[in-house]
Order: sequence, then structure tokens, then C-alpha cells
Amino acid sequence: MYSLLVGLEMSLLLIMVVLGLVAGSQASKLLYSRTGDRLRRKIRGLMASLTLLTLIGAGAAGAVVRTAFAFDPLFWLDRLLLHVPLIALPLSLAWLSSVPMLLRLLKDVRNAPRLDASVRRTISEPGLILPVQSIALGALAALYFALRPPVPFSAMAVAVPLLIVLAALILLWIRHTVRSQRAERTEAAKPPLWKRWGASLAVLAALVALAAIPVRTATQASKLPDRIDMTAAPMDFGATASGRSAGHEARAGHGGHASHADRTAGGEQAIGAVQASAAPQRSVADLTGPQSAAPDRSFTLTAEKKSVRLASGKTVEAWTYNGKIPGPELRAEEGEVVEVTLVNKDIEEGATIHWHGLDVPNAEDGVAGVTQDAVMPGQRHTYRFVADQVGTFWYHTHQHSLEGVKKGLFGALIVEPSGTNERSVRPLDMTVMTHLWEGTLAIGDSDLVNRVDAAPGTPVRLRLINTDNWVRQTYRLVGTAFRVAAIDGTDLNAPGELASGTRLVLTTGGRYDVVFDMPDRPVFLSVGGGRNRGILLSPDGKGEVPDIPADAPEFDPLHYGEPAPTPFGPDSAFDREFTMVLDNKLGVYDGRVDFLYTLNGEVFPNTPAFMVEEGELVKTTIVNRGMVDHPMHLHGHHVLVLSRNGEAADGSPWWSDTLDVLPGDCYEIAFRADNPGIWMDHCHNLAHAALGMTMHLMYAGVSTPYEAGSVSGNFPE
Ligand code: C2O
Ligand code: CU
Repeated sequence: MYSLLVGLEMSLLLIMVVLGLVAGSQASKLLYSRTGDRLRRKIRGLMASLTLLTLIGAGAAGAVVRTAFAFDPLFWLDRLLLHVPLIALPLSLAWLSSVPMLLRLLKDVRNAPRLDASVRRTISEPGLILPVQSIALGALAALYFALRPPVPFSAMAVAVPLLIVLAALILLWIRHTVRSQRAERTEAAKPPLWKRWGASLAVLAALVALAAIPVRTATQASKLPDRIDMTAAPMDFGATASGRSAGHEARAGHGGHASHADRTAGGEQAIGAVQASAAPQRSVADLTGPQSAAPDRSFTLTAEKKSVRLASGKTVEAWTYNGKIPGPELRAEEGEVVEVTLVNKDIEEGATIHWHGLDVPNAEDGVAGVTQDAVMPGQRHTYRFVADQVGTFWYHTHQHSLEGVKKGLFGALIVEPSGTNERSVRPLDMTVMTHLWEGTLAIGDSDLVNRVDAAPGTPVRLRLINTDNWVRQTYRLVGTAFRVAAIDGTDLNAPGELASGTRLVLTTGGRYDVVFDMPDRPVFLSVGGGRNRGILLSPDGKGEVPDIPADAPEFDPLHYGEPAPTPFGPDSAFDREFTMVLDNKLGVYDGRVDFLYTLNGEVFPNTPAFMVEEGELVKTTIVNRGMVDHPMHLHGHHVLVLSRNGEAADGSPWWSDTLDVLPGDCYEIAFRADNPGIWMDHCHNLAHAALGMTMHLMYAGVSTPYEAGSVSGNFPE
């Protein structure tokens, strides 16, 4: 609904610009009517255009007002305060000034063989023509603000386009004044075609030349620097209880960064210079996992290029860990010390390992340019951490992650409760990693239906992991009722039974654990919703893939399961509050004009970093004003979902590390800043992250010896 309204407004604005230009030229051509009847015909044509424009303008403004009724102000305040006046003001002027003049003319010039001086003057007066011409200008400005929303608010971003419109109006005013004076004196002949077109083209060329200057500068400025220091990002200190009153002094202490923070939502600074310097100074490199304890599990993952075969026989030119796609499944038990050594054999682009969803110490997080240097061919790097969260996680490279993950540098990481191995009844525990391999959808390395034996009564756990790029994958489990036992590696409390066939839609990077007891008939997990990709569980390994009901409700975690105590909740006193606005903007990234995916109006490395101090309780409001979904992934922390679109999350506590924020969605989330470091916070549609939809959560006092860019060769995205 949100995308629909926004799309509707934009299309109507576009039509308004075109039709507005037509009406403007109709108005300025009234003067060339030789006889009264000709003029009357032209006036009627112009009135028709104005009526149509008014209807279209009302539609566009109506779409904005409709948004205002259903959504948070962050979605529409700019549209209501900027777009609507830009649409409505010129139209009202036209009806108040131009139309009465036109109506009078209609009467006055009836049957007039020629236009007398006063009529010639009236029909070329700025008071008649300018309101009509300003309709297109206003719509154009509104369209500009729709394509480059000044959200979070920036005075410059609003003032500059408005001043340009004003300047254009003044120039037109002067032109029409001169023209109407001349028209009064002599009868105007319609200038020859080449003159009219020549003049328009000259104006157009001048405008293009003028616009080329800022576009060029922006293009150059958008080139990614050779050296990117994450700690040099603009800072957003959010709003704090103390900052709301003490914000001003604190801001003065922060000098150069104040302007950046001002632009971001909230805008108040709480970590003043004093507090920031009081925080202990630490380097990311020192925030390691256990160094001396003997590891309980050791793994070696060798990154290498390899042609790998899918079950159907199709070969894939992959980048692999240990020659497999996906990489080997790593399993550990709760509390174990895990050691993983990454060896890069021949991936020239470099590799790392990031433990997606496992909140490891910062130095073990595996982000090139932030927590380590990329591991180049011939090099190795060892990670150590305690597996203290039970659940379904995955690991993947965080160097050139868009390309690396797409090509296969990832695998599953499962942490089981301690003592699992001694248990007598082992459940059937399967990891279902779905991925698109050079255009072929597969589960693990199987692009066919997998058949699995499962004796009736066996407890089954399917761990769904979507590792794709920008695919909201649909899974359908048919043949039995089931439960979603965990989301993003965190168990749910008292999850209820879901009907067979319920749609499970998983965002990229997200995980659902699905559990059920095996019935005495086949059960099919469809990936993608059809019958030709999936897992068929049956008592004897045979049986038919059951029919998949066409219509089924979609699973929604918001009210699922039963409430349980949480360390904090919606009523907690938050130490700090941030706003994160996801949006689209027409702009340039790294020298290329594109529709950018922005975080608080910017793309990396200009995205503001959220600044926190260790121990703080943080609340973030995430709003997606854009046209596509964004699975937001904060490293090193799990966030508790408090509400969506004003509706409280009142089922089981819903902890997430990869939260899919759909267009028009507004989430409130909270987390405890209890894992010091510099943490990526990005969209897990990795293509978006690679286009700059990346920012960081930064703890006061933490620095990094690493940098990104071509000098270091670290490219986390
Ligand atoms: Cu799974 Cu920063 O990523
Ligand atoms: Cu995205």
C-alpha cells in the first residue's frame, strides 16, 4: 500500500510536469490569436488543461494525505510540507488569478475581428501566464524532492531547489512584463518556428550546462577514497535523556562533527568531548575471544576456487571453503571454545570469515577493513570464540561479500545445547541452506528433490537459512502441522502450531528453525513454493510429493508464541534513541549515477555512525521509505523487536539479527550495547550494501588499526 501511494504520487507528478509545460506554452501563445474567436478557442483549450491539471494535482496531493492517515510522520512529513504546497500553490494561483482573467476575456472578445491593445496586454500579462507556468515548475520541484528526499531534514537540501524555482519565476516575470508592454504597443506576430524552437533550445542548453557543474562535482566527490577510516564517519549521537537538555554544550565540544549530527534524526549529541575522552581507549584488535584456553573444536577452512557439481550434474565455477558448496557445516556445543583457521589458497580478491548471528568479540567478527585485513592467497588467520548462543547461524566471507557469498564462500554454523551428543533419541536435524548457483536454485548442493528417510514419530528440525542475495525466499511445509521453534538463532517461547502449507518467507541472511514430529505419511518442504525443489521426508524414503495448496496465510512472528520475561522491553528507560531511515535517492555512487539505497539520507562512507557507550540500553526506530525491502543486519548484537507500525510485538520475545523491513514498515527495536567494538550495520541484500547501504555502530573510545579502500585492499562489501 505504501509503495503504491508513493508510486502513484510520483507518476502523477511526472504527468503534471509534462501537462504543465503544455499548459504553460498554451498560455504564452494566447497572444498570437489574430481574432477574438481564435482567442476564445485557445482560452477554452487552456481552461481544459487547467481543469485536468487540477484533477491530477488533487490526486497527487490526495495520495500524500492518504499516506498521512496510515503511517508514521517520517514517511510523509516532507511530502506534506513540501510536495503538497508545491502542487497546490501554483494551482490555486492559477484559479485565483489566471482563470478570472480568462473568463472575462471570453466575454470581452466575442466576435471581435481583431484584438485591441488592452486585450493584447491582458493576455500576455505575467498575472495570467505566470501562475500557469508555475504549475510545471512546482511539480518539477516536488518531483525532485520525491527523487531526493530531504530526510533527515537538511535546510540546504530544501532551500537550494526552492531558490532555483524562485529565480526561474522572477526571470519569467521580467520576461512577461517586457513582452506584455511590447504587445500593448504593437500587434505581435507569431515568431517563426525556428525562432521559437531556437529560443527554447538555447534556454535548455544553458540549463543543462548550468546543471552539469554540480553533477560533475557530485560525481567526483562520490568516488570512493583510496583510504576509508570507519572511525572518521559522521557521527550520530542519537537522543538521550540527558542529551535533550545538555545537548548544546556537548555539541560545542564536538566541533566539526556537529553539522553532520545535526542533519541526522534526533540530532542531539550526548557523548560530549568530555565523556568521549573519559571512555577507555581500546583498539578493535584487542577485543579478541579467549586466547589461551585450549579449543574444544578446531576447524580449518581453506578458501579456494573450484568447479563444483550440483546434484543435477550442472557445474558451478565456485569460490569455496574446503572445495564444497556450501562450505562444511560447523557444529559445536554450547560453551565450547571454537577455533577456526582460515587459509586462503587462491582467492585473489581475498577472504575473511564473518560469523553471521553469533555475537562474537569484535576482533573475531571477520570484517575486512574494520576488524582485520583481508586474508590474501598464501595467508591465514585464526578466529577464536566461545559458542555461547544455541541456534542456527552461518558464516561467510566479509571481503567483497557480494561476489564472495554469491560464488559460495559461506556455510552453516550450528550450536547445539551441551550434552546433545549423549542423548539417546537424536532428532533428525537438517540444515536447509538455499542459494542461487549461477541461476539455479539449490538446497545445499542439490537442485533436485531430496529424499530422506524418516521413521514416524521422529522429532524433526529443519534449519532454514537463506543465503541468497535479494531474494525473499518462500518455503512451504506440507503434510503436517509444524512450529517455528527459533528465529535468527534464538528460540521462541511456546511457539504455536502452524497449519500445513503455511507460507514461511525468509529474508536474505535470516533463519527459521522448523520443528515437527514425523507423521506416517510423506512431508514435503518446498523451496520457492513449487514441487520441483525441496526435501521429501517419508517413512520409507519413497512416496509422492504432496500437492501444495495454492492459498495459505503467511507466517508473521509479531504475535506468535507466548510472552516471556526479557531483560528490557518497550517501557524500559532507554539511554539512547536512534532513528534509521531507509530510502531511495537519485544520486551518484562511486562516479555512477544510480538510484541509491540510503541510510539516513547518505551512502557509505558518508553514512553517519551510531555512537554509543558500553552498557547503554539503545532503542532504534527503523523506517523504510523506499520501494524495496531491506533486511537490516547489525553485527555483534541481537535486537529485540518491540513493535511494528505501532503494533506491539506481544507474542514470544522476538530477537533478530536480520530484520526484514518492508516498504512502509516502521519497527521499534532495542538492544543492550554490551559488546564493545566497531560493528557493521547493513542491508543484507548484499547488492544494496555494495552500493553503500552500510553504516556502523561505534562504541565511544574504540579505534581500529584497519582501513578499507584500494590502499589496504580491504573491501568489506
Ligand atoms: Cu551476514 Cu555483515 O553480514
Ligand atoms: Cu537493502
